[in-house]
Amino acid sequence: MNAPSILKPTAPSATSAPTSPATTPSASVTSASASEREELVKDIYDQAYDAWQPNRVDIFRQYGLTVVLGKRDGYEFEDLETGRRIINMHINGGVFNLGHCNPEVRRALVDGSERYDAGNHYFPSEVKMRFVERLLALSPDSMRYVNVNTGGGESIDSAIKFARHATGRRRVVTVHGCFHGATGFAMQAGPQDQAAFFNSTGSPDDFSQVDYDDLNQLEDVLRRNDTAAVLIESLPATAGFPLPHDSYFKDAVELAHRYGALYIADEVQTGLMRSGTMWCSVGYGAEPDMIVTGKGLSGGYYPMSAVIMNDRSAQWLKDDGFAQTTSFSSSELGCYVATTVLDITSRESTVQNVHMLTDLFKTRLADIQSRHRFLTGVRQRGVIMGLELAHPQGSTALMAALYRNGVWAMRANFDQHVLQFKAGLLMDAPTANRVLDALDAALPQAAGLVGVED
Ligand SMILES: Cc1ncc(COP(=O)(O)O)c(C=O)c1O
Repeated sequence: MNAPSILKPTAPSATSAPTSPATTPSASVTSASASEREELVKDIYDQAYDAWQPNRVDIFRQYGLTVVLGKRDGYEFEDLETGRRIINMHINGGVFNLGHCNPEVRRALVDGSERYDAGNHYFPSEVKMRFVERLLALSPDSMRYVNVNTGGGESIDSAIKFARHATGRRRVVTVHGCFHGATGFAMQAGPQDQAAFFNSTGSPDDFSQVDYDDLNQLEDVLRRNDTAAVLIESLPATAGFPLPHDSYFKDAVELAHRYGALYIADEVQTGLMRSGTMWCSVGYGAEPDMIVTGKGLSGGYYPMSAVIMNDRSAQWLKDDGFAQTTSFSSSELGCYVATTVLDITSRESTVQNVHMLTDLFKTRLADIQSRHRFLTGVRQRGVIMGLELAHPQGSTALMAALYRNGVWAMRANFDQHVLQFKAGLLMDAPTANRVLDALDAALPQAAGLVGVED
């Protein structure tokens, strides 16, 4: 039985007018009645409960968050149940950096599939080499090699192995509040309760965690002289994108090197121009030994991730080129699609749009903050944003109120007074303004939900 929804307003009839700044009915709403849509979504959720994710379905139903994505394009998707168009300010952590069903990426996928399949993972090819060359050209000069995988977790696991081989050591130091994926080493490097849930925590000799932006704690661990890698998610998303002091990454790289360790920058969420530069930590002046990228590299279509390596990190490639192979590594179709993603991401008009959005959000968020006590602070680097709220669980309330106003954004699970607010690189100014109008309307509603004055 569904609990009353805090997120979904009553489904509009085919003729009803939009009820909020960001909500417009989609074209396909007119083809199905409200009851037909509700029935369809209920069936999908019933099946999902039976055969896919019983506990997750229970929780979504409890919060009235029975979302099924309908038609989608640009930065909007249709909520199948209500027919409303929702602006996506979560973008799956950056997967939809270039928007949903980006036409240029889709064309590359379709055209590419006429010529390529995954190819053979043992042999090089022209399309693979073009992708590798393009990625290196967009990375610091010290980067020499690229290892291409599918998911971000797989690339984090790989980077950890590469550091262990290069240094002959095992320890990996990460920071509290980071998330690096749900695969083996990536999960062991992240939140310990998650690894413990699967009875899979790493040995205390293999993994240590220190506070973000704290170089003294980092050095204390490094002094043991047994660290293979310092692995830092440049701006930890699940902690709400806290911003470090300006020299943090540069100093952390230097410390790692002083004690014989390598520095791995997890740029799965913060890379690909989202911070206003190609790689966030590099934009702060650091030169990591490895950069891990993923999410948006797929263009939302073809799963791709990569480890970009300098010479020292890539030692294994020279010692034994067959030590790690996976069936879909360097998939030719994936490389073709991802090369197009890199072309779009790095072109001048995209960079200019990111600057435009950065300024627009900065200016309007400052104005909105001056009028709403519930919004106590804004963290921003490029189009990566965290909204600080005047209640420890304020982000759940704002998430709910924003959804009612036609915007989907995700709370920061490890610090729930912060809402993650992530714009895509190609979002236009009218859409950004609709997001901000929706925020303006949602803040007092959210404050009311948690009993705080706005
Ligand atoms: C910072 C960061 N690193 C790594 C990952 C893992 O990527 P994937 O989910 O593609 O395995 C994620 C996923 O959310 C992430 O946010």
